[in-house]
Amino acid sequence: MTDIVRTETILTSDKLNVLHLALESVSAEGGTVGLPNACYTDDETMERERDTVFAKHWAGLGFTADIAKPGDCFPIDFLGQPLLMVRDKGGGARVFHNVCSHRGMILVEKAGPSKGVLRCRYHSWAYDLEGRLRRTPYVGGAGQDTHPDFDPTCHGLREVRAHEWLGVVWINLDGMAPPFEVANDRILARWREFADAPLVHTGEDCRLTFELATNWKLAIENYCEAYHLPWVHPALNSYSRIEDHYNIVEPGHFSGQGSTVYNPILSPDGRKFPALPNLSATWDTGAEYVSLYPNVMLGVHRDHCYAIVVLPDGPTRCRERLCLHYFDEAVRDPDYAELRLTNQRTWSQVFMEDVFAVEGMQKGRASPGFGGGVFTPVMDPPTRCFHVWTAQTMLDGPRGREAARAAAE
Ligand code: FES
Ligand SMILES: [Fe+2]
Repeated sequence: MTDIVRTETILTSDKLNVLHLALESVSAEGGTVGLPNACYTDDETMERERDTVFAKHWAGLGFTADIAKPGDCFPIDFLGQPLLMVRDKGGGARVFHNVCSHRGMILVEKAGPSKGVLRCRYHSWAYDLEGRLRRTPYVGGAGQDTHPDFDPTCHGLREVRAHEWLGVVWINLDGMAPPFEVANDRILARWREFADAPLVHTGEDCRLTFELATNWKLAIENYCEAYHLPWVHPALNSYSRIEDHYNIVEPGHFSGQGSTVYNPILSPDGRKFPALPNLSATWDTGAEYVSLYPNVMLGVHRDHCYAIVVLPDGPTRCRERLCLHYFDEAVRDPDYAELRLTNQRTWSQVFMEDVFAVEGMQKGRASPGFGGGVFTPVMDPPTRCFHVWTAQTMLDGPRGREAARAAAE
């Protein structure tokens, strides 16, 4: 189904050698050093990340709520590639390369409803929501919409493998990852109690966006750790202290932190959102926050969850899009409006508090005096877990090359 349109990036051999050496020390057993500065600053290294870290796995692209109804379209730039999320007639989420098959015109430029037809503005070719080419006006000359030498079934939109889970639209660019449920079986098992939770999205008060002057990985890494809590999040630390946190480390899949004390005060009268029924006692006061590799930061609590998709804009900038979901339709009631806004503001404050840190670490990556830093043994294993995964994935190379090598042997 999926075609890889890009050719594999070839790093210049010197740069590749230096990078390989650094990545090998990151992934070495018992290693304590982090990724080299080039992984945060260099365009070519970023391209290798695109072809490995992003292309080989299930990456977050956008949200179910972006394409809520059949016909909804949402164009989005992903690592410099124009993609298009669409809700098809059957209610499924589909992702296409957002480019017309004829002369390569960008197909959809604005998010919104489509009435079931994706029409190119250049020569008016039209595709349906399943990506099939349906109309080719004058393709056989004026007034002739067909031609015996032109087969429209060969010129539909190029589709990218997509899956929805926890309100996120995930994509696998190279089309060769195991099915989502297999690739992500560990997190699905860990959070199985939330598997059938209704995901209630109430609109703009469930969303946040941030534009950051930092490499996307620094956002992910910062989210992996609770170490900075006392100094960066004093308000959060007042009810969920660093002592109440534990590390979550699942090599090759995700890492982050959990808290045994989730008890925010969102209203002076102590009002709360309804909790998901039948949760085990762990979730009465517990909450977990993990970075699911490569680029999605997730948080689950008894009464709501959220996902943050981190979208790289080159090596030194990224966008974060957050989408929050409650677990009970009752939350739509205007009576909950104030509480919803307070919850949104509370999370916004927490994530704003992190900005100076993730942008400051990016500035530090310009220093020749920094060579990956050091991971401490107790507080940094979740961050190291992400570094090791990233280094190993980059060292393994794009799947196309592996497949070619295997075929040659
Ligand atoms: S480029 Fe789209 S119809 Fe020609
Ligand atoms: Fe933080």
